[in-house]
Amino acid sequence: MLVSAEAIATDPTTDGVFRVPTLPSARGPLSRTVIDLLRGDPDAARPGGVAAALQDPDLFSPDLFSPDLFSTDLFSTDPYGDDLQLALYLCYEMHYVGFADADAAWEWQPELLSLRAGLERRFLDALHRDVPAATADDTAGSEMDELCIENPDGAGASYHLRDNGTWEQFRQLFALRSLYHLKEADPHAWAIPRLRGHAKAAYVAVEFDEFGGGRGDAVHQELFADLLRASDLSADYLGYLDTVPGVALTPVNLMSLFGLHRRYRGAAVGHLAATEITSPPGSQRLLAGLERLDAPEACRHFYREHVEADAVHEQILRTDVVGDLVRSAPDTEADVIFGIRAFLFVEDALDAHVMGAWERGESAFPGI
Ligand SMILES: [Fe+2]
Ligand SMILES: [Fe+2]
Repeated sequence: MLVSAEAIATDPTTDGVFRVPTLPSARGPLSRTVIDLLRGDPDAARPGGVAAALQDPDLFSPDLFSPDLFSTDLFSTDPYGDDLQLALYLCYEMHYVGFADADAAWEWQPELLSLRAGLERRFLDALHRDVPAATADDTAGSEMDELCIENPDGAGASYHLRDNGTWEQFRQLFALRSLYHLKEADPHAWAIPRLRGHAKAAYVAVEFDEFGGGRGDAVHQELFADLLRASDLSADYLGYLDTVPGVALTPVNLMSLFGLHRRYRGAAVGHLAATEITSPPGSQRLLAGLERLDAPEACRHFYREHVEADAVHEQILRTDVVGDLVRSAPDTEADVIFGIRAFLFVEDALDAHVMGAWERGESAFPGI
């Protein structure tokens, strides 16, 4: 990971070399199929493979991928389960850093893309089933207003961590969140070419801050790497991919899905708006918990930065980005609302996983 010369000099745990991750272990037939593909030669001919994909309207064919894949019913696979979410994460990762043991040419390889399309369809169908669609009376503005209503006595991981959370529970949360924060703001950056005018300028202003405002050591991804090191956790990119519960991959896959599909640009904007609006109060609670525990400064710094910066980002997103987008492209408003509601849905699922584990006296991240 790129770190500042100053950080390298003072931090003996990093040599300043970015380590490209290797492929994780499979969690079922879908992720095994993707891993098997990625380990192979992207240019090798697979008889009938692409042709079958192009001819099959469902993009799936029993002879297309590994033989055991279709011995199970793909469409009975849990759309939010570990296997599908890991398979999708691996497909998307080819557009980010990729894997040392996967040829970069897989990024645009048609068979992998066709498999990804099937996974996305399964995921999206579930989201459209579980996330209420916008009605004629709903507006992006009212949706964002609702996000701003703070419950001082609310329940959830950040409230627990503020008042009673242990350092071990904070470390579990950091590891769960590492899959997102070590690529923070990258998934939303895909939406930039899909915006115009004022909305684009304001969106880029927020992303500029996320990417450190011109300073490598202030990139939020790097701040989180500093937090991980200060917590005696791995700061390697995807360092926890092999063991992270699938429920922590879903929020990242949602961002990648919205960012990589132009037709979901409204949802990508809604997702970023929801992220920024909910970040300051949530970060404030985590900061209070870290101060209560006298946690390392690098940990406090990450959340302090988000209390301060995201209060500004929230206003920019509400007025300048969403406001201008729905004015100039009214057809995006329902998708902005979908992006906000889908964000809440997957974040609530992760929160329920974390609190469920803690209430049972278990770790929310096995092994930590
Ligand atoms: Fe950030
Ligand atoms: Fe932000």
